[in-house]
Amino acid sequence: MDLTHRPRRLRQDRVRGLVSETSLEPSDLIAPVFVDATTDERVPIESMPGHERVPIDESVARVEEVLETGVEAVMLFGIPESKDPEGTRAWAEDGVVQEATRRIAAETDAYVITDVCLCEYTDHGHCGPLEEELRSEDGEVGVDDGGPACDPTTTVDNDATLEALDRIAVSHAAAGADMIAPSGMMDGMVAAIREGLDREGYEHVPIMSYAAKYESAFYGPFRDAADGAPAFGNRRHYQMDPANAREAMREVRLDAEQGADVLMVKPALPYLDIVSEIRREFDHPVAAYNVSGEYAMLHAAAEKGWLDLEAVALESLLSIKRAGADLILTYFAEDVAEELSASR
Ligand code: PBG
Repeated sequence: MDLTHRPRRLRQDRVRGLVSETSLEPSDLIAPVFVDATTDERVPIESMPGHERVPIDESVARVEEVLETGVEAVMLFGIPESKDPEGTRAWAEDGVVQEATRRIAAETDAYVITDVCLCEYTDHGHCGPLEEELRSEDGEVGVDDGGPACDPTTTVDNDATLEALDRIAVSHAAAGADMIAPSGMMDGMVAAIREGLDREGYEHVPIMSYAAKYESAFYGPFRDAADGAPAFGNRRHYQMDPANAREAMREVRLDAEQGADVLMVKPALPYLDIVSEIRREFDHPVAAYNVSGEYAMLHAAAEKGWLDLEAVALESLLSIKRAGADLILTYFAEDVAEELSASR
């Protein structure tokens, strides 16, 4: 055999590290944390093994657990004590995220990112107040009376939502949030939040926009975890159609123009083409959200003995980085960070 090209030469053990193109570090990872104002005990999340909703009193302890693994950043989600049509608890000074953020910022070194959205705070579970005509006569929403209120394609009032997002973001920054992450897919959300933050003196607080967020069935377990499933209809009038890639670039461009500091794609694994295209077209840091369903399906398969969980988790995150993500939000953050440190 006269073979000049033998790629196997560089796959030998002592040289693999030298030619490795992608590295994964604990500092690339962001761990989602659920704080629940309705409980005073930790509640395991069934569809997300290893994850819990923690009471406000446990939020600092929970974040310390994350930090011990080498992960330096958390993304906070809140489950409020009560919900209403406007989602007013989302911007309350004594709201669940505001209270947890204050404590975590005061007592830990974690970099605190807060999810800014209304779906966990509205009684109808949509990501903002509904348009007027979608209410029934007595002001109820989502009533199945055959009228517009039960239209499965019901729509959130975009511009009214922007005012709420401005308030929520400012209240999070006031509580000490290091970074604001709007996830509602409203048009103009980054501009509205940037304006609000700057107006109130938080011009140093960056925005990580869920810029290309798809209307995905992979969010199922999260919606149980955060109690944020829409009570009726779905989110297809604001989250993106999984069929579209060019539209993602348009969404991302708009968010970049409005001042987004970090551009996020969500979910991650089914949308790596979008991650890699954004990496090519933009100079911003790119984030990818390895969502609840991506986590749950690997756990479920591993439970059956069909997959090696540690190996597939690591391979998944490495692939997301290889596609072009700089940061990864993932429920595997703590486990993978520990694996990485152990293999050093
Ligand atoms: C909305 C939000 C969602 C997720 C993060 N932020 C749910 C949704 O859009 O329905 C999903 C995260 C996941 O599935 O892990 N606040």
